[in-house]
Amino acid sequence: MERINPSIDFDKRLYAHDIGASKAHCEMLAACGIVSQADGDAILTGLDRIMGEIEAGAFAFSRRREDIHMNVEARLAELIGPAAGRLHTARSRNDQVATDLRLWLRDTVDAAQLALRDLQAVLIDRAEQHASSVMPGFTHLQAAQPITLGHHLLAYVEMFGRDRGRLADARKRLNESPLGAAALAGTPYPIDRDRTAAALGFDRPAANALDAVSDRDFVLEFLAAAAIAASHLSRLAEELVLWCSAQFGFARLSDGFTTGSSIMPQKRNPDAAELVRAKTGRIVGALASLLIVMKGLPLAYSKDMQEDKEPLFDAADTLGLAISAMTGMMRDAEFDTGAMRSATERGFVTATDLADWLVRERDMPFREAHRVTGALVKCAEEAGCDLAGLPIETLRSIEPGLTEEVYDVLRVERAVAARDSYGGTAPRRVVEAVRSARERFL
Ligand code: ARG
Repeated sequence: MERINPSIDFDKRLYAHDIGASKAHCEMLAACGIVSQADGDAILTGLDRIMGEIEAGAFAFSRRREDIHMNVEARLAELIGPAAGRLHTARSRNDQVATDLRLWLRDTVDAAQLALRDLQAVLIDRAEQHASSVMPGFTHLQAAQPITLGHHLLAYVEMFGRDRGRLADARKRLNESPLGAAALAGTPYPIDRDRTAAALGFDRPAANALDAVSDRDFVLEFLAAAAIAASHLSRLAEELVLWCSAQFGFARLSDGFTTGSSIMPQKRNPDAAELVRAKTGRIVGALASLLIVMKGLPLAYSKDMQEDKEPLFDAADTLGLAISAMTGMMRDAEFDTGAMRSATERGFVTATDLADWLVRERDMPFREAHRVTGALVKCAEEAGCDLAGLPIETLRSIEPGLTEEVYDVLRVERAVAARDSYGGTAPRRVVEAVRSARERFL
């Protein structure tokens, strides 16, 4: 029992929120005349002292006292005597732990928001720098159409913006106070739940005591948002790994974010990116764990719910670490614009532009233009050159409507500039999108 039951080893990190919530509860009990002012004052002084002891590393956490709540209360009794026993009036560990966890998570969500914002700021700066650096855009990881690196990076700015939106939504819903729900049914004491809710910065007291102590959907919402954010981080990490390979050669991570190999002297391994990619597993795993813990629990509290904390803490720590590693990598990364530009010369990335030209200038139905361009690509493949490498006679032997003008159409800079619809990759649009992203996100 002593090994399976205690949670103090991990829930001690709730100490500041536990003590803060106890102080709010105690002030309310005194204000409502449920405990005397003298006892209330003694309790508050004792709680402050315990806070100091913990911060100073001078607090002896005990597994025999099971969890943070009982560790604090037991120490309070040592410090102030029997008045300590009055703190737990009109309260249960059930509403206490739910309150502590909401308070802790609220701070954690705020920190994650700031971290994501920092990452967005870096990505926006890099996008601005590379508003007109051309590279191949891919579908199926096959070169598709030329795009700008700025356009590519801003795609992630949008993703992380939605991640922040999900966190903000979760925060709104989690900000209700369980305190005073007591064990599950409320309490016969004349408490003031509005008062404690306001003191702790909650928007309101939770409306149903049974629900307040028995649900952890607020943790699940955070974990779901974290899992989605982690999957975005992982995709960007995967692209960095690809881009840093000799085969792509688009990017070079700084020495600070790479490691060498003990045997192959030429290696610069993108370990940090690989770890960001891998850490997604832990965060998604935390979401799956807690969903499974919760799904069959009858109302209200069961000890199963103590298993909410380790996955939550681990996921929150992991997310914070992954975001900050990604922020550092993206801030320091160097992009090889020459290599990205040359990569657009392979894979016929402007074939669509040629087809579009035939539609526009020769009034050809798109399907027919697609077929003609396909024939030209095949011809270039056989000749071992790019479309623009084919002489005009060859082009005209396949489609007599083609003129010298198409060589300009096939230039990637032109192809990129042409895509200047709203949200498109044209440098002009990217510059505009950078400005709007700064307004919306920073
Ligand atoms: N350590 C417990 C937890 O984390 C606190 C709540 C205990 N409540 C109870 N009725 N045993 O869930």
